[in-house]
Amino acid sequence: MSATFNFTFDDIPNLEGKVAIVTGGNSGLGEVIGRELARKGCKVYIASRSQSRAEAAIARIKNSIGKDMNLLFLELDLETMKGAVAAAKFFMKRETRLDILVANAGLGGIKSELTPDGYERNFGHLGHFAFVTTLLPLIFKTADDNAESDVRIVLMSSKSYEQAYPIDFENVRATYRSSFAFFTLQEMLQRYARSKLANLYFMRELADLVKDRKNIYVNASHPGLVYTNIFDLSTSPLPWYMRFLGEFHAKWFGSSVNDGAKTALFLAADTRVIKEDIKGILMYPGPTNGFVYFSNIYIRKINELGMDVERRKQLWRFSEAALEKALEG
Ligand SMILES: NC(=O)c1ccc[n+]([C@@H]2O[C@H](COP(=O)([O-])OP(=O)(O)OC[C@H]3O[C@@H](n4cnc5c(N)ncnc54)[C@H](OP(=O)(O)O)[C@@H]3O)[C@@H](O)[C@H]2O)c1
Repeated sequence: MSATFNFTFDDIPNLEGKVAIVTGGNSGLGEVIGRELARKGCKVYIASRSQSRAEAAIARIKNSIGKDMNLLFLELDLETMKGAVAAAKFFMKRETRLDILVANAGLGGIKSELTPDGYERNFGHLGHFAFVTTLLPLIFKTADDNAESDVRIVLMSSKSYEQAYPIDFENVRATYRSSFAFFTLQEMLQRYARSKLANLYFMRELADLVKDRKNIYVNASHPGLVYTNIFDLSTSPLPWYMRFLGEFHAKWFGSSVNDGAKTALFLAADTRVIKEDIKGILMYPGPTNGFVYFSNIYIRKINELGMDVERRKQLWRFSEAALEKALEG
């Protein structure tokens, strides 16, 4: 398998007849991913917790690539697992196939609070666990009914996972607060790193789950540093000067949102994924040579913690139990 690829949006093949969901498709990277899939004829569901933000994104996309593009809103709030399951079930009543699922939605650096399900908001992973696993029967059906075709699942992770300590499952249920800005920053970055490690574990476990299904490709992507709404740190617990530095850093040193979307789009649609049988990997943009510019994309070796099978199985069991509890309540 060659590990580095040149990729432009022109490499995305015709996707007519295919159906995709992009979570968090109402802004930033998700909007570009939805736009480029739709441009190639895919029917794209922009999954968002806000109908007005999703419709605004759909209007922006249609204005830029054509009014006849097939883009629809899917209501999805990942904060409650019950809500995520309901969104997946609604989708399965409406569609008979799901060819591309990009689990892109994410957050970071927001105020530390518990979700209605009782987990710390910055952890993020559980909503996608509920949504994606509920959609699996339709994903399997799509793969079985279209043996000549392929099905893709892309999880959005981040290079930040490389800084993560092992996931502490008690910590996932606890908020944090510190009177010292430095410790708040450290904890905030750790929470984000662990949420992205969780996405990586989820991807690896899903890839394992579908390993006997030849035409399902599950992978994860890191977009690079990209100045998007995720750097709106107005609700973060950080003091103003740290928020300013965070935003400044992303604004001046980040790559464009178009370039940031490329790793996920490659994994979601490029035919080289099939040709090279790319499964269970994490794709990075770069190399950057110390400067931030986009040249190509490459498969990055996942570190030891990211490859830890026992920890990833532990997360799966934890997520299953959390989902069962949420559905009981
Ligand atoms: N930008 C970067 O430098 C960078 C680097 C590494 C990884 N990433 C990852 O890339 C992904 C996309 O982020 P972005 O940079 O494009 O930021 P963004 O513009 O803020 O997009 C994040 C999307 O996730 C959605 N979202 C957040 N919480 C949600 C919830 N509970 N339910 C449903 N949707 C929810 C947001 O919806 P709302 O508009 O309703 O908030 C938004 O559409 C994230 O997973 C992020 O962690 C980004």
